[in-house]
Amino acid sequence: MNNINFLNAELLATVVSQKSYPKTEVPEIAFVGRSNVGKSSLLNCLVSRKNLARTSSTPGKTATVNFYNIDKKLNFVDLPGYGYAKVSKVEKEKWGGMIEEYLAKRENLLRIFQLVDMRHKPSVDDCLMMDWIRGFGFEPTVIATKLDKLKKAQIEGKLELIRTTLKLGESAIVIPFSSEKRTGKEEVHALIDSIYADAMQEEDKFD
Ligand code: GTP
Ligand code: MG
Repeated sequence: MNNINFLNAELLATVVSQKSYPKTEVPEIAFVGRSNVGKSSLLNCLVSRKNLARTSSTPGKTATVNFYNIDKKLNFVDLPGYGYAKVSKVEKEKWGGMIEEYLAKRENLLRIFQLVDMRHKPSVDDCLMMDWIRGFGFEPTVIATKLDKLKKAQIEGKLELIRTTLKLGESAIVIPFSSEKRTGKEEVHALIDSIYADAMQEEDKFD
């Protein structure tokens, strides 16, 4: 199998609206989730870089739509977070608009990874996001972040809480993950490899 080389990653574009999206035909995987959940950290972890995507302990770090090309095969898209109480209403609307515009309009969007903090019950916003993902026909795919903050005995219960709160079916993928400890990294790599391989096969069918 022709696996993706995740080390071959570069920033393509940092934009605030559709008119500046890169004109690329490769499939995209977007990372969505609440501010501070660990979207940018996940991206860095997957490509083994510390600072390709900027991260911060202060929520609201990513305020643009950021496109990263991975091995010339696909793009990762790091989006601003939602649900952060402390940003101004104007800022919230601006970010909400950017997220919505990207998710609704990007034709080469292949999969949306929804990140939720494993320590907490998914929020109302998380549930709305998952409804939207399903509503638009995307496969529910969840990455449960900050696994390192939990005790071993807590893990199963938290995963179950995520499944029930987001109303996930048995077949939905939920991967526990820690950017800190790099747990789950290989599983996410394997998932992306398989999503990409499936997409390429689909494409062949229509050639
Ligand atoms: P916004 O850009 O504000 O939407 O946030 P984000 O979702 O991109 O989060 P970011 O990756 O910037 O991480 C937020 C904070 O959580 C940072 O202090 C990270 O170091 C921390 N963090 C992210 N992932 C993990 C993890 O797996 N474990 C631990 N312990 N901390 C993490
Ligand atoms: Mg971020």
